[in-house]
Amino acid sequence: MINTTLAWRQLELLQRDIYTVELMNLYANDAHRMEKYSLSAAGLYLDFSKNYLDDAIFELLLELTTEVRLEEKIKALFDGELINHTEKKSAQHPELRKPLSLAKPEVAEGRGQINEFVSAIHSGTIAGATGEKFTDVVNIGIGGSDLGPKLVCEALKEYQINNMKFHFISNIDDYPLNNVLQTLKPENTLFIVASKSFSTPETFQNMQTAQKWVEKKLAGDAWKKHFVAVTANAEKAIQKGFQGKFIFPFGEAIGGRYSLWSAVGLSIALCVGNENFEKLLNGAHAMDEHFRTAEFQQNMPVILALLEIWYNNFWGGQSHAVIPYLSQLNLLPCYLQQLVMESNGKSVNSKHEFLNYDTSPIIWGEAGTNCQHSFMQLFHQSLRLIPVDFIASLTTKGDKEHHQQLLANCFSQARVLMLGKELCTVEKELAAADPIKDAEDTQKLAPHKVLPGNNPSNMILMEALTPETVGSLICLYEHKVFVSAMIWDINPFDQWGVEMGKIEAKNLLPKIQKNELDLEYDPSTNKLIQLYRDTNNNERT
Ligand code: F6P
Repeated sequence: MINTTLAWRQLELLQRDIYTVELMNLYANDAHRMEKYSLSAAGLYLDFSKNYLDDAIFELLLELTTEVRLEEKIKALFDGELINHTEKKSAQHPELRKPLSLAKPEVAEGRGQINEFVSAIHSGTIAGATGEKFTDVVNIGIGGSDLGPKLVCEALKEYQINNMKFHFISNIDDYPLNNVLQTLKPENTLFIVASKSFSTPETFQNMQTAQKWVEKKLAGDAWKKHFVAVTANAEKAIQKGFQGKFIFPFGEAIGGRYSLWSAVGLSIALCVGNENFEKLLNGAHAMDEHFRTAEFQQNMPVILALLEIWYNNFWGGQSHAVIPYLSQLNLLPCYLQQLVMESNGKSVNSKHEFLNYDTSPIIWGEAGTNCQHSFMQLFHQSLRLIPVDFIASLTTKGDKEHHQQLLANCFSQARVLMLGKELCTVEKELAAADPIKDAEDTQKLAPHKVLPGNNPSNMILMEALTPETVGSLICLYEHKVFVSAMIWDINPFDQWGVEMGKIEAKNLLPKIQKNELDLEYDPSTNKLIQLYRDTNNNERT
């Protein structure tokens, strides 16, 4: 196991040494720190200098990639080998964003179907059952069939080429769906039922309710003109009544949380148009090529993964915050929660051995500057170590004054996290005015005002938020997840842990629906079901 290697052991020792070093001193001790610990690739700039990192540590972290033969693993990924070993599948998402000239026939075909459909919807060649153009698109899906398209449609709103409205329905409670349907007309509403398995209960409950809503107004088979299926299980879509050209198939080797580049991204293409969808793919492909070819010490996904492992496995860091300083990426932390934690929330290695070290950290975050009025207090004055990825764009399509304040806050948060108490000394004159003065020395800051500082962070900058840089950014995190998984020796492409919950819910549902069934669960669950029954006064059926 990786934690029995010499490199790992040496890192444990070096962690104790650098633990007491002030981050600021690392700059003082190395005039070349900035150029060594920053790089540009695929439209992104990464400053990783505000980390507990020096040449010796960086060297040893890179040694971990040699220990796991990362180069071979990356080649296996891009060669389409069956690296998803528990499901005996490859992981083909990089294939989805190759230029058409390099794409596999089935990928080119899928992209052609998307392009044709999008053009036909925009031109009105394909319209609703009454001939009205579609004005609203409702994407019904959950997890990877929702989070990716929802994130990108929001991120690229400024690139929308029409005034269609996009709605995303995922949860199984009918509140969100009813809220949306009451604002729509069936005649000009298109439903995208996105489900790789085409058997996810939440998605089918919502689909049925939406179909009934359409059928109330449009009789007979008319609903079929208002519903498209995006799935790796076309057979099931046909069984559910979907018709040929309204079924968008994609490969079984595309993981749900890696699927926005496929027809799961149909709502994105409908929103921003085929050209911008292609640019999104191109941006991701540029990051693919960087990841596939760059030396590891200048490889952005590798560096981010090594830093994640450094704090997660050597510093006891339990979580990692992603804080986009642009509201267009508001949904990025939520998207990354599935991408990272559903991929790397594992504890068994490729040899089916139980691990004795942590894997994925808990991913969370919120756009800045909102975070500064919410949880940043904890970052500045608690004793927790929570590494941060700050993300920002150097330019804006919006108001320059707003944007300048946004960046001033973003850069300052990273600076205060690092410098903390050093900055407090600058505030000494404030102490003099502080009613709780220190008896001996009014120059000394009252303890409740001291910020320990020395908190690490990465800064990821893009020149502008474009389809290319959004594609590149998401792909960066996909490959960071892959590298971390390879070093932890886990499979990032399966998700066996989510199956049990689905099975239990399916078995428990009848106990909630029908009173007469005996309760044979644990005392707590029996009590909860009984409370439901009593509260809803279900007639005995
Ligand atoms: O969360 C479990 C999961 O299988 C995810 O991996 C997937 O993205 C989501 O459910 C939806 O699955 P489907 O696209 O098959 O409906």
